[in-house]
Amino acid sequence: MTSSPSASERLFSRAQQLIPGGVSSPVRAFGSVGGTPRYFARGEGGVAFDEDGRSYLDFCMAWGPLILGHAHPRVVEAVTKAARDGLAFGTCHRHEPALAELVLEAFAPADRVRFVVSGTEAVMTAIRLARAHTRRTLLLKFSGCYHGHADSMLVKAGSGVVTLGLAESEGVTVAQDTLVAPLGDEAALEEVFKTHGDRIAGALIEPLPANNGLLVQSPRFLQRLRALTAQHGALLIFDEVINGFRFGFHGYAKRVGVQPDLTTLGKIVGGGLPVAAVVGQAAVLDRLAPLGKTYQAGTMAGNPVALAAGLATLEELRTGAPYRALETLGQALDAAVAKRQDRAFRLVREGSLFWPYYALEGPVPTQAEQVTPAAVAQFKARYAGWLDAGIYLPPSAWEVGFLSAAHTLEHVERLAAAL
Ligand SMILES: Cc1ncc(COP(=O)(O)O)c(C=O)c1O
Repeated sequence: MTSSPSASERLFSRAQQLIPGGVSSPVRAFGSVGGTPRYFARGEGGVAFDEDGRSYLDFCMAWGPLILGHAHPRVVEAVTKAARDGLAFGTCHRHEPALAELVLEAFAPADRVRFVVSGTEAVMTAIRLARAHTRRTLLLKFSGCYHGHADSMLVKAGSGVVTLGLAESEGVTVAQDTLVAPLGDEAALEEVFKTHGDRIAGALIEPLPANNGLLVQSPRFLQRLRALTAQHGALLIFDEVINGFRFGFHGYAKRVGVQPDLTTLGKIVGGGLPVAAVVGQAAVLDRLAPLGKTYQAGTMAGNPVALAAGLATLEELRTGAPYRALETLGQALDAAVAKRQDRAFRLVREGSLFWPYYALEGPVPTQAEQVTPAAVAQFKARYAGWLDAGIYLPPSAWEVGFLSAAHTLEHVERLAAAL
């Protein structure tokens, strides 16, 4: 006798008849781990519950925004109040300067921020600004870094694209304006700038690349990139959509001591609702309409409910307490993993981001190309077992896990045991 389908299975088969692949974003389809995506119904702190009532320790945390955990009371209260006051106005409202002040406090010396809806849009806007500011066309990106799904960025773009086995997306025609260099390779970098330096508008990088595994870069490499962009009159853009506000009330830039010209933010800055931002100095940002001729706009940009979630999240983070909790949890995860003699992986961790790399030999990757197919296969082979054990990790070997301040030491012990 076959068992009756679970609620997730029923919902997924219905969605597959209606929505391409049954999903609103490709990596959610479980394509690279197999099985049926879990339909989450509710989340509380570090735990999520699916439509079948099963609970999971959630280490995906909506892919990063939920640094305070699911349904944090302060954030829910702020959102509820904002929603009661009106879901959208399409006008200016008081949360805009309030959130802008907090963001700029964290990203000084930047003195301008423009709010958009998604990280993709933030990157699009940053690129447009770099081109407008320099009057040049070429954009340099790095293999394995993901910057959203704007056409010119869908080249060597990490998880989703690697997962799908696509070198780049069909339907993209502007990729010839994008140069791609390997991460961490100073000689290659020198060469790119020697050849194309006077035509490069900007170099875009995740300073801590977290979309193709966790590929920790040396500060020296980032400093070299800073020096070369400055020397050649190109802008340096740090894509901190994942990194921003994750390692303290600031950017990863501060952690490595490298100052970019522009920063893109997303995820945490919206506390779980759709907010993203471009941050930089007035000399560049004030090129945006209505002051300048670089166009960017959005019906939902700076939505008051979404900004209220971001504001409540940043106010909580600004107390410092969540970062202290996260560091304790991160160190506990290291310790719990280290005491297991039988482990088959190496844990790459930076603060509250972690990546189990299932290879005991060879280098811990710092470049996309170093991640071995065998390590990916090992991750995939274990994924269903983790779900059975009530552990929810991002469903792809190329994605990083996220600790939230709502996780506990016991959660982290269970994670280490499962891994
Ligand atoms: C570094 C980075 N940049 C940009 C994006 C795109 O953001 P969004 O999915 O909000 O469009 C992502 C998404 O994961 C990201 O990780």
